[in-house]
Amino acid sequence: MVEHLIDKLNKEKELSFEQWTEIFEKYDKDDAKYAADIAREISVKIFGKKIYIRGIVEFSNVCRNDCYYCGIRCSNKNVNRYILSPEQILECCNEGYETGFRTFVLQSGEGAYSVAKLCDLVKRIKADFSDCAVTLSVGELEYDDYAALKEAGADRYLLRHETADKEHYEKLHPDFMSFEHRMKCLQELKDLGYQTGAGIMVGSPYQTNESLAKDMLFFCDFKPHMIGIGPFLPHKDTPFKDMQKGSYELTLFILSLCRIALPNVLLPATTALGTIHPLGREQGVLSGANVIMPNMSPGQVRKEYMLYDNKICVDDNTSQCGNCLQMRLNKIGYEIEVTRGDYHD
Ligand code: 5AD
Ligand code: FES
Repeated sequence: MVEHLIDKLNKEKELSFEQWTEIFEKYDKDDAKYAADIAREISVKIFGKKIYIRGIVEFSNVCRNDCYYCGIRCSNKNVNRYILSPEQILECCNEGYETGFRTFVLQSGEGAYSVAKLCDLVKRIKADFSDCAVTLSVGELEYDDYAALKEAGADRYLLRHETADKEHYEKLHPDFMSFEHRMKCLQELKDLGYQTGAGIMVGSPYQTNESLAKDMLFFCDFKPHMIGIGPFLPHKDTPFKDMQKGSYELTLFILSLCRIALPNVLLPATTALGTIHPLGREQGVLSGANVIMPNMSPGQVRKEYMLYDNKICVDDNTSQCGNCLQMRLNKIGYEIEVTRGDYHD
C-alpha cells in the first residue's frame, strides 16, 4: 500500500528518492488503480475528454547510433534502409492534414538528414501548413543545430533521455554514446524555447526501482513539456533479443504518476503501449495520457521502421489510423481534438 505517497505526490508535486523507490517496490494493483483515478481526473479537468493527435512521419531509418535495444541500430544489417524525400514527407503531411492532424512529428534515426536539409524541410512544412506545429525527433545534435532548426520554425523536440541513471544508460548504449551529452541536449532544447519532450522505456534491461526513482526525480526537476513512455519491447535482431519485455501494468502506473506530478504535461499513450496490449492506448488515456501519435508514414516504409517486434499499424494507412483512433476514443467516451495542442502552464 503506497496510497499515502500517491496522496503526498498529488499535494506536493514531489517526493524524495527514497519515497519514489518505495513506491516502485511496494505498489500493488489497488495503488495503480488509485493513481489512475486521480490522474484521469486531473487530465479531464485540464484537457476535458479531448485527446491531442500528433501524426508521425518516420522519414528515415538510417541511423549512426547503435543503441542495444533498437531495431534500426546501425549494426543491424537486416534493415532495408530508406530516406524519404522532402516531397514524399510533404505528401504525408498533406494526408495527415486531411485526416485532421495539426501536429507533424518528423522522426528518423540520427544523422539521416543533414541539419541544412532539415531546416529547409521544416520551412517548407511551416509555409504549407501555417496552422500546424512541427515536432522534430532526430536525436542528439549540437546547440547551433538546434538553434538553426528553431529559427527555421520547429516548435517542439522529442528526445527521450532513456534513463536518468548514468550507469544504467551505459548498459543500454555503446561507449561512443554519452549520458552527459544526452542530458545537455535536453537542457539546450529547453533553453532555446522548444516545447521539449523527455522519456523512458519501462522495463528496459537492467532498469531498477532506483533508476526509475531517478527518472521521476528528473521529471519533477526538469519539468519536460512532454513525456514519452512506453514499455521496452525486444527486437529480434538486437543484443537484447532475449530480454524480457517491460510490464504493461507498470507502464500505466508510471503514466499516472507523471500526470499527478506534472498536471499539464503532454503525455502520449504510445505505440509501444498499443503494441504490448490491444487496448493499451485506451488504458493509457484512462490512466492519465492525453496524446496519441498515429503513424502517417507511407505504406511501403512502415515495416522498415521497426524499433521493436510486432509494431502495430504497419499494414494501415493514415486515414485508417485516423478512423481507428476516433472509434477507439469514442468507445471510452473521449474525442479527437483538431488543434495544435500546445503546452500550457
Ligand atoms: N522497445 C521500446 N521502445 C523502444 N525505443 C527504441 N527501441 C525500443 C524498443 N525495443 C524507443 C526509445 C527511443 C524511441 C524513439 O523509441 O525510447 O527514444
Ligand atoms: Fe493505426 Fe488503429 S491506430 S490501425
